[in-house]
Amino acid sequence: MVQTTRLFLATVMASAAMSLLAPSAQAMDADAAKTLAKQNNCLKCHAIDKEKDGPAYKKVAEKYKGKANAEARLIEHITSGEKAKFADGHEEEHKIVKTSPPKDMEQIKNLVQWILAQ
Ligand code: HEC
Repeated sequence: MVQTTRLFLATVMASAAMSLLAPSAQAMDADAAKTLAKQNNCLKCHAIDKEKDGPAYKKVAEKYKGKANAEARLIEHITSGEKAKFADGHEEEHKIVKTSPPKDMEQIKNLVQWILAQ
């Protein structure tokens, strides 16, 4: 009886430790990211692998590859309305991503992780 309880506890603790070691609590959800991008008209100016008014997401992913602050930088980019430079040289405030509920960091992070994974 004592043996069984010990084994049970050991198993529970081992799986708790494993979930702590996992790199991120949740994997990136590509479908959710694409849906959010479509809802926000991001894809009017961006495509995955060709230049439109804005850079292709593949290009963005390349540019930020291996950069430790990539995620934070892009979250800032799509939430602050900072100036964006268009190919013809004019500048306007970049679109701020809208989520429901508003400013949902999980959804915003998921979108940025998807862009960085292209
Ligand atoms: C009206 C056109 C337009 C829309 C809509 C738009 N973007 Fe952009 N985006 C741009 C332009 C232009 C740039 C280039 C900015 C620059 O280099 O200054 C850009 C740059 C970016 C970058 C790269 C930033 C960097 O630091 O390299 C990301 C990521 C991005 N946009 C994501 C998004 C997301 C997500 C949405 C939807 C919420 C979106 N964009 C909507 C035009 C747009």
